[in-house]
Amino acid sequence: MRLFIAIEIPDDLKKTIADLRADIPGARWVPEEQIHLTLAFLGEVEETVVEQLNSALAGIHATEFELCFSSTGCFPKYQRPRVLWLGVKPHPHLDELAAKVRAAVLSCGIPQEERPFSAHITLARLKLLPSRELEAILEQPQKQRIHPFRAREFILFQSRLTQQGAVHTPLMSFPLAAV
Ligand code: 2AM
Repeated sequence: MRLFIAIEIPDDLKKTIADLRADIPGARWVPEEQIHLTLAFLGEVEETVVEQLNSALAGIHATEFELCFSSTGCFPKYQRPRVLWLGVKPHPHLDELAAKVRAAVLSCGIPQEERPFSAHITLARLKLLPSRELEAILEQPQKQRIHPFRAREFILFQSRLTQQGAVHTPLMSFPLAAV
């Protein structure tokens, strides 16, 4: 099974985020319903490991927090953009959650990338060199402020790759502790 762990974004905010869409040549926009904040990408995992993974994730003690959005940016760099993202303001509880999720995943023998966690919400995947339209979305202050929301859980998702694109299915949710 192809798995990842993410924070789900409330539907009304997904709509506001999807409204940031602009006519960028070569951009493949993430479908509105799939907008999420990835905590860890696991890739293909044997089904037999999923039970162990669920209990490792259920053992995580992390605290809920206010998730605030920041500006847009791109990976890996402006001159060769591949991913257009919406930033998330740093929060110690978010970093702590990502670190605990990573440790739980590693404890199940599932390898993780070495590079540090960088909180973002992917808006689009880009295939072409920077365009005027890309520059405009990176430079313009957001048309509409995206309200913060309280992150109260994280979710283990399955991602099935189909000819129509990826289909994400929540498998299990894990609550964060209230303060
Ligand atoms: P991102 O878009 O937040 O960067 C589900 O596929 C999610 O896992 C993607 O939205 C992506 O998060 C993340 N991911 C990280 N590495 C990946 C990879 N090698 N292949 C596919 N998805 C990856």
